[in-house]
Amino acid sequence: MAKELCVLAYSGGLDTSVAIKWIADRYNVDVIALAVDVGEEKNYEAIRRKGEQVGAVESIVVDAKQEFFDDFITRAIAANLMYEHKYPAFTALARPLLAKEQVRIAREKGATYVAHGCTGKGNDQVRFEVTYQALAPELKVIAPAREWNMSREEEIEYAERHGIPVPVGKESPYSTDTNLWGRSIECGVIEDPSQEAPEDAWQWTVSPAQAPDEPAYVQIEFEQGVPVALDGERLPGPELVARLNALGGAHGVGRVNMMENRLVGIKSRELYETPAAAILLAAHRDLESLTLDRETYHFKPYLELRYAELVYYGLWYTPLREAIDAFMAETQKRVSGTVTMKLYKGRAEAVARESNWSLYDYSLATYAAEDQFDQSASVGFIHIWGLPAKVAAAVRRKQGG
Ligand code: ARG
Repeated sequence: MAKELCVLAYSGGLDTSVAIKWIADRYNVDVIALAVDVGEEKNYEAIRRKGEQVGAVESIVVDAKQEFFDDFITRAIAANLMYEHKYPAFTALARPLLAKEQVRIAREKGATYVAHGCTGKGNDQVRFEVTYQALAPELKVIAPAREWNMSREEEIEYAERHGIPVPVGKESPYSTDTNLWGRSIECGVIEDPSQEAPEDAWQWTVSPAQAPDEPAYVQIEFEQGVPVALDGERLPGPELVARLNALGGAHGVGRVNMMENRLVGIKSRELYETPAAAILLAAHRDLESLTLDRETYHFKPYLELRYAELVYYGLWYTPLREAIDAFMAETQKRVSGTVTMKLYKGRAEAVARESNWSLYDYSLATYAAEDQFDQSASVGFIHIWGLPAKVAAAVRRKQGG
């Protein structure tokens, strides 16, 4: 009788390679390895072959870069998504997509299990499993790294015993996660937040001190909140983001160093490199400041805060996320135009902007002769605007205190 099938989210690294063998033995199932490309620059064909080589009955690679951009990154930009004002939540954005692809393959292949390589201490386990629950509650979940209780040494020994290739040479002292929207660096000396992170943790960005003395300028065009062109050249989203990662990185833009509150109650020290996100979010916010009316512009950040939490907490496939997205989409209808960004020694700053939907009115703003603003109307306005303040102050004067 054919064994039951398990679809494992596979990265090609040691943990998920060991997981293929471990799951097959422990659960007596056949494992399908699924690698999803969300923009980490890796050799996916090599990863596919490795999956088979270490014991998967089938090894699949899905290119999801365009979908990651269209369905996740564009929404993140619309909502100016920044968890705790610093982290653009790129890992949190990618997990629901990986899990959704696992569910799709599981259905296609008739699998009864899905598995991921997350530990029991992080946010990623939550993001994977909430997505499974929302999309396919019938699937059973295996989380080998949470279940196997192996130390690093035991894991390497297990790998060697089963002919699973162990990375040779000096192992990276860090744990990283990468996609189009950023790169995270954790573990090792980074776990001591009282110490500045060593320079070798950074791979995408030069140190701002080492960045060129000449600033770079880049014009970013948005259509309804979506970045569509750089310096007049229309580009597919994933390529546009990749180009800004390279350009920003060369100018030291996008380094993040923070203490972060995980969903599971732990505070952790995190480093991120997110040049494209830093540039695009700054440009997008700037264009909003030109094209959104004041009240929308002031109200939107309340929902942005909540949205960032929802996404970070793994609640992508929920009604509230959809409802907030609908609000954000409404706000983006006229967020179209071009922003000129100046990149200089770690900073990305909007220095000029234009839009057909600009709400800036020169004849209202100017102090020059063209001024059309009726200054005499301010008298009545201020009289009524200040009335509550006047009444309250009068009462206090009368009653004392
Ligand atoms: N702290 C970040 C988050 O929770 C990054 C997690 C990185 N994940 C990883 N498996 N290395 O989203």
